[in-house]
Amino acid sequence: MTKVIKNGTVVTADLTYKADVLIDGGKIIEIGPDLKGDEVIDATGCYVMPGGIDPHTHLEMPFMGTYSADDFESGTRAALAGGTTMVIDFALPSPGEGLLDALKKWDNKSTRAHCDYSFHMAITWWGEQVFNEMKEVTDRGINTFKHFLAYKGALMVNDDELFASFKRCAELGAIPLVHAENGDVVAEMSAKLLAEGNTGPEAHAYSRPSQVEGEATNRAIMIADMAGVPLYVVHTSCEEAHEAIRRAKMNGKRVWGEPLIQHLTLDESEYFDKDWDHAARRVMSPPFRNKQHQDSLWAGLSSGTLSCVATDHCAFTTDQKRYGVGDFTKIPNGTGGLEDRMPMLWTEGVNKGRITMNEFVAVTSTNIAKILNCYPKKGAVLVGADADLVVWDPEASKTISASSQQSAIDYNVFEGKEVKGLPRYTLSRGVVAWGDGKIQSQEGHGEFVARDAGMPVTKALSTWKELTAPRPVQRSGIPATGV
Ligand code: URP
Ligand code: ZN
Ligand code: ZN
Ligand code: ZN
Repeated sequence: MTKVIKNGTVVTADLTYKADVLIDGGKIIEIGPDLKGDEVIDATGCYVMPGGIDPHTHLEMPFMGTYSADDFESGTRAALAGGTTMVIDFALPSPGEGLLDALKKWDNKSTRAHCDYSFHMAITWWGEQVFNEMKEVTDRGINTFKHFLAYKGALMVNDDELFASFKRCAELGAIPLVHAENGDVVAEMSAKLLAEGNTGPEAHAYSRPSQVEGEATNRAIMIADMAGVPLYVVHTSCEEAHEAIRRAKMNGKRVWGEPLIQHLTLDESEYFDKDWDHAARRVMSPPFRNKQHQDSLWAGLSSGTLSCVATDHCAFTTDQKRYGVGDFTKIPNGTGGLEDRMPMLWTEGVNKGRITMNEFVAVTSTNIAKILNCYPKKGAVLVGADADLVVWDPEASKTISASSQQSAIDYNVFEGKEVKGLPRYTLSRGVVAWGDGKIQSQEGHGEFVARDAGMPVTKALSTWKELTAPRPVQRSGIPATGV
């Protein structure tokens, strides 16, 4: 049975044109004028765009003594309601746990997904087992490894571990990801703030100034360069980090930055002179910044020095946030945004003339699919691509409210914002998953999307023994052997 999306305007990362889109077997089979199908989806007055891809989510993730409240069921419902048709979630081994054991857990959780999904693998500790299992992880279609330079004493890796893992990524043709904040400095500043009696959520922002992000971003870029590997920087929130990325790009390095919709549209005033719950609900890392940093992020999206817009969806209920009453370092870090990313970016970006419609498609979908290697299966309106599509009504509007959201939590950080531009239909592999204002897909419809590693930079893979063997002392610039 075929379906045809009729009377819409196709908007891709590089073109805008009137055409119908014919779908069969979950794929786009024809694009052109006056197409006929067994079932008609009316797109009059709408744009037909690639479904959004959120490259950064944490669904049902064990973190800071609890689990993030949205699982693959509620999280992917939220995604579809907001026009997103694929999420890339982080499989997170606890320190000491094997990568494949963690992957098994994520395989199990994700069986409930409404939309397609993929995984990144986090490197939370380092050793021979991790080194070996990284190969198997890439063989299973996971080509990205995440490193935390923050969360000291929990998930943080040190520079020697970072360098070793980056070199392993280079060998495998994988891309390292980095959460770039200097965890040592954050830990020291947090302890001082607490000792001085600053226990409230606003102290979270004081403990993580933009310099800790700028330093760690630059350090990760330099270490990636020495390892001979590209780098994807998650949740870029400030000018210093953006500047490091910009400089690296200008110098010919493959480095990508990912601002979040929260950092683009919400600022640090959310923490100050607010009630405890209001501020704590917005505690995330990095914290919200001032207008100057926001302007820098918007400039990065229009100039192309920043590549993708994500959510880092890691939602906690108010009760969970209250674990941190009396000690801000115990407030679970994270905010939601899956349902709101595309409407908020359209409203604040396209409607206000900061980015074009085509740039909107690029940063919410196509760039992400290309960088993370699932293009053109995802992120494209092309014959042969998956029919992951959004029929976008630029005239539809609503007021964001927790009372009508899909997410399982009891508030929304965008509460009260007016958005104009919403999905009329969201299609996941040809199935209308969101339409008429409600979820129409079945739990479990989502499938895993394998993302292969690229060509390894070095042909022969090293063994753990070779990597850890003592090496001759090498003075800068002087070859260690042969002279
Ligand atoms: O505060 C945040 N961002 N929580 C989720 C985990 C992470 O650091 O990405
Ligand atoms: Zn992070
Ligand atoms: Zn409030
Ligand atoms: Zn994250």
